[in-house]
Amino acid sequence: MTQIPPFKLPADSPMMSDNFLFGVATASFQIEGAADSRLPCIWDTFCATAGKIADGSDGSVACDHVRLWRDDVDLIDNLGVDAYRLSVSWGRVMHADGSVNRDGMAFYIDLLDELNHRGIKPFVTLYHWDLPQYLEDKGGWLNRDTAHAFAHYVRAVAQAFGDRVYAYSTLNEPFCSAFLGYETGIHAPGHQSRAMGRSAAHHLLLGHGLAMAELRQHAPKALAGIVLNFGPAYPQSDCEADARAAQLAHEYFNLWYLQPLMEGRYPDIMGALASDERPPIEDSDMAIISAPLDYLGINYYTRNVYRAGGDLGFEEVRIEGVPRTAMGWEIVPAALTDLLVSLNRAFTLPPIFITENGAAEDDKLVGGAVHDPMRLEYLQTHLLAVDAAIRDGVDIRGYFAWSLMDNFEWAEGYNKRFGLVYVDYQSQARVLKSSAQAYRGLMTQKRASL
Ligand code: NOJ
Repeated sequence: MTQIPPFKLPADSPMMSDNFLFGVATASFQIEGAADSRLPCIWDTFCATAGKIADGSDGSVACDHVRLWRDDVDLIDNLGVDAYRLSVSWGRVMHADGSVNRDGMAFYIDLLDELNHRGIKPFVTLYHWDLPQYLEDKGGWLNRDTAHAFAHYVRAVAQAFGDRVYAYSTLNEPFCSAFLGYETGIHAPGHQSRAMGRSAAHHLLLGHGLAMAELRQHAPKALAGIVLNFGPAYPQSDCEADARAAQLAHEYFNLWYLQPLMEGRYPDIMGALASDERPPIEDSDMAIISAPLDYLGINYYTRNVYRAGGDLGFEEVRIEGVPRTAMGWEIVPAALTDLLVSLNRAFTLPPIFITENGAAEDDKLVGGAVHDPMRLEYLQTHLLAVDAAIRDGVDIRGYFAWSLMDNFEWAEGYNKRFGLVYVDYQSQARVLKSSAQAYRGLMTQKRASL
């Protein structure tokens, strides 16, 4: 087997120090399978709806992780990473009457115990999009009560997990849950209205705030935060109108989630929405939402380019002739540095973890090996982009590659592969790709340099 050189960071990089954590990430619906031992969720329903998932697949088996989790912990351990970011399936640990499903809870407790036993820090996401279907039947995130149901579930998890968790994140990418799920409809539950998208976003953020209070009370030793995704917005040209368009898109897609958390208010673009499209804010909501965070998780994959147009003043444009991943996403590592530096200037941020970064590539298993040169280049350049942001003064404490292994990529199904580890879905064999070897090499070098 060819020797793959490790990812490289400068020897004096703060990322090579003891207190910077490297990890890999996954999410429950994308890897677990074992759908019959949990409540149905909105993604089960969405997958069963013709035409919603590119390859017509679903999450019923996925990576069969509920059965193979011990092997998967071996894989994580073998990579030599400091941390593992996973998510809890709400409908696996709770019954529909709000009582605890002990078997479901035991699955995660065993997993967390094994991670801790091996010195791998668990980062636990409480909501990575798999809302129980019975709650969607009552309006889902359009219903304020869902925020309270979420807090109730979070309390049960925090009480059951005790001190096993290093860091909790309430929500993963509320932009995707709200905008893709309720505004454009390309994700579950598939609604298509701006008013719904903005209402769902508000109730998600409210659920986050209520959950933070539960975590403070019932998991006082764990870090508590949230994970947001950012698609940095760039103007198509240097004309004033395009610069304005990029600013408006930034407010609508990025700041819509960050500014309520940091400053207790929605960005100015809210004023451009019709009154029935504005979020249903009640007294004290914004104070609940803006409770202090121990950390902010940032997921970054690509940037977006805009020009003036559209009813809100911006429209996205596609730049031709630039490098892209298999998702069709432009590869722009400098945009990650710029994002981190500019957010750090604009807000008083808590410490940051890069909770996801990675690339889909059309991986092929050839002679028992998977060589993924584009992903190698993507991860190498983005690691350096994080290093550059730290040198520019941003307080970044860790980096998680998305993903540990290939998995169910939502509306794209299983054809888009993001893993460091290749999954053969026929046999459920796991094969380390070149990128996994390079990541492991970096971990070895880091340990040696300490
Ligand atoms: C963000 C999501 O959190 C994750 O579930 C998804 O697979 C990756 N991005 C890649 O699209």
